[in-house]
Amino acid sequence: MSDSAIGHSAPTAPSFEFDAVADRLQWSSTKWEKYRGQDVIPLWIADMDFPAAPAIQDAIAAHVRHGNYGYMAPPRELARLLVDDHASRYGWEVQPEWIVWLPGLVLGINLAVRTCCAPGERAVSFSPVYPPFLSAPGIQERGLVDVPLRPTNAAGTEFTIDFAALEAALQASPAARLLLLCHPHNPLGRLFTREELDGLAALCERHDLHVCSDEVHCDLILDEGATHVPFAKLLAERSPRLLARTITLHGPGKTYNIAGLGIAWAIIPDAGLRQRFKAAMGRLVPDPCCFGFTALKAAFLHGEPWRQALLATLRRNRDRVSAALARMGLPHTHPEVSYLTWIDARALAAQVGSPAAWFERHGVGLSDGADFGRPGYLRLNFAAPPSLLEEALQRMERALARRTEPFAPDASAAAALFA
Ligand SMILES: Cc1ncc(COP(=O)(O)O)c(C=O)c1O
Repeated sequence: MSDSAIGHSAPTAPSFEFDAVADRLQWSSTKWEKYRGQDVIPLWIADMDFPAAPAIQDAIAAHVRHGNYGYMAPPRELARLLVDDHASRYGWEVQPEWIVWLPGLVLGINLAVRTCCAPGERAVSFSPVYPPFLSAPGIQERGLVDVPLRPTNAAGTEFTIDFAALEAALQASPAARLLLLCHPHNPLGRLFTREELDGLAALCERHDLHVCSDEVHCDLILDEGATHVPFAKLLAERSPRLLARTITLHGPGKTYNIAGLGIAWAIIPDAGLRQRFKAAMGRLVPDPCCFGFTALKAAFLHGEPWRQALLATLRRNRDRVSAALARMGLPHTHPEVSYLTWIDARALAAQVGSPAAWFERHGVGLSDGADFGRPGYLRLNFAAPPSLLEEALQRMERALARRTEPFAPDASAAAALFA
């Protein structure tokens, strides 16, 4: 006998809106403003074309109705919610006093560089990577040591940390003080393996490096069974001395699509380092937006069902993108985290110049790999309603099919071009 026949209806999963295409130009969305007045579907900046979780919208609406938007201290229970969240999600025991609230994460990367490197000293990054990991050292008038990730497949879409090159770079550059880690990795959409993380931990110990680990994508793991290990937790397991050298950056901006609300945090276990980080903030850094605090509290308390539904939508979109790119003959990643596919378009670049500009002319706005340190690559953001994503993929496929010269991926020609 079925449950309904005996009077129990099966619990229904809450349904959320991931299909509607909204007019985001009405509120000057950065993603859409770039192409205002042009027939270009924007799949670039890491921002999702989905409305935030209803629980977050309701909490903000209640705050808006309250009518007073003066200076706001973090809600008293917020630090405890964060601590509990980290304990249950990642098994990491964070102390409330380790938390420094921030209005953004790129700011946090810059502050970490400023705090951990004196003028003349350097930070280490692994390209390709989210552009501020390459630009922050220069902006802060410090040096950059870029140790490119090493391709591990012929298609040029899988990469690993090049430990030999990293060791050599550190030997050659004794002024390197800070490792800038994008973990999970944007744009590759991958978790570093335990082996890679252990290798990095040993290296930090050997070279006495501080680490700034940006973990903002870690709650968007698509592959079931995969887990995120906070790098600071792994260092803490080796020694308290190593934990004291960490700055972990995180926030709800990516997971809950609330980047516009300006709320993030740094976790800095060592009191001295935390004090120096706060001193670097000085009177230059404003408090997070009051609605950011409200939204974050709602996300911790009520966000999980929406996040699960989001992940299901992203998994379907990821697979749709993969199938379409395979038909187009474009080598690409099948990301295990987040909503960004990294595409090797070097063969196309050999024929058309910048693939980003070329696809833009054909109605699709992608991120240019050059900004991540890899000309000829593209990053495609698939966090879009399926109908919009489908239209963008069809445009890409039609543009490639209509090309007069046949387009055959030729990694060797492309490699020569970008060597
Ligand atoms: C790894 C990473 N860090 C930081 C950010 C941006 O964070 P925020 O908008 O809080 O500065 C992004 C945005 O894509 C990102 O991918």
